[in-house]
Amino acid sequence: MKHFLDINKTDKADLRAMIDTARAMKTARAGRPRGMPDDDQPLAGRMVALIFEKPSTRTRVSFDMGVRQLGGQTMVLSGSEMQLGHGETIADTARVLSRYVDLIMIRTFEEATLLELAEYADVPVINGLTNRTHPCQIMADVLTYEEHRGPIAGRKVVWSGDGNNVCASFIHAAGRFGFDFTFTGPPPLDPEPGFVEEARAEGVAVEITRDPLAAVAGADLVVTDTWVSMHDSQSARERRHNQLRPYQVNERLMAAAKPDALFMHCLPAHRDEEATSAVMDGPHSVIFDEAENRLHAQKAVLRWCFGV
Ligand code: CP
Repeated sequence: MKHFLDINKTDKADLRAMIDTARAMKTARAGRPRGMPDDDQPLAGRMVALIFEKPSTRTRVSFDMGVRQLGGQTMVLSGSEMQLGHGETIADTARVLSRYVDLIMIRTFEEATLLELAEYADVPVINGLTNRTHPCQIMADVLTYEEHRGPIAGRKVVWSGDGNNVCASFIHAAGRFGFDFTFTGPPPLDPEPGFVEEARAEGVAVEITRDPLAAVAGADLVVTDTWVSMHDSQSARERRHNQLRPYQVNERLMAAAKPDALFMHCLPAHRDEEATSAVMDGPHSVIFDEAENRLHAQKAVLRWCFGV
C-alpha cells in the first residue's frame, strides 16, 4: 500500500521520480485545453474520494482536474456532511470507503485522523493538509523551483514568518531533496525541533535566525505564508500580527536575497500582511506557477500511489 502521508516518510528516489514525472506530464500536455484528457489514461476505471474537513480552492480543484486528466473519476465529500463528522469512527469510515473507492485524499485538522484513516484503509491515502504538514504543496513548490532555476539541491531556501504546517513540509523536503533551509521568525512560532533535527541528520544545513535581513543573504528562494488561520480568535490575530510584522516579505527583504531569487507563497494570501503586493506581483514571484503546479505534482503523486 503506497500512502502519500508526508515527504519525510517517502523514499528519496520516489520523490525525485515524482517531480520528474510531473514535469514530463506537464510538458506533454502543454497548450492543451484544461478539460482535455492526457494521452495516457492510467487512472481509467479508478474512483478517487476527495474529503475536505477544511476549506480549499487549490487542493480541491487541482486534485479533481488531475484525476480527470488521468482518466479517473472523483467524488468530493465534505467532512461535516459525512457520518465522520457525526460520530462514526475514522477506522470504520476507512473500512467502508475502501469498499467503494480506489484512493482517498483527505484534508483534515489533526494528523491523527490522517494516520488512522491510512491504518484502516485498504486503498492508498493522500495527505491533502493537516494542521502539522502539507506535503502536496511542497511537491508543487519543488517542481516550480526546478522549472525556473534548475536543480534545487544545494540551494538556500529561506522561510520568513510562521513555522507552520507548510514550513514543516519544506523542512522535510530540505532533507529529502538536499537543499539548505533557514527559518526566520519569532521564537514562539518556530518550526518543530524534531523536524529540524531530522533534516539536519540527512546532511543539510537548517538554521534558525531572528534577523530576517541576515537570513535572506544568499537566498535562492524566499517563502512565506499567512500569519493567521481562519480559526484564530481576534486576540490571537492581533498577537500574531505584532509578532510577525518584522518578517513581512517586502521589496527591501527581497532586495537582500540573491538578485535572481524566487518568491513563493502557497496561497491564499492576505495581501500586504505577510507579503506586499509589490513582491507578490513583482519580478521574483512565481506564486501562480506554484498554484498551477499543484495539478501536475499531484498527478505524479496519484500515479505513484497507484503504481501506474
Ligand atoms: N495552498 C492550498 O492548499 O490552497 P487551498 O487551501 O486553496 O487548497
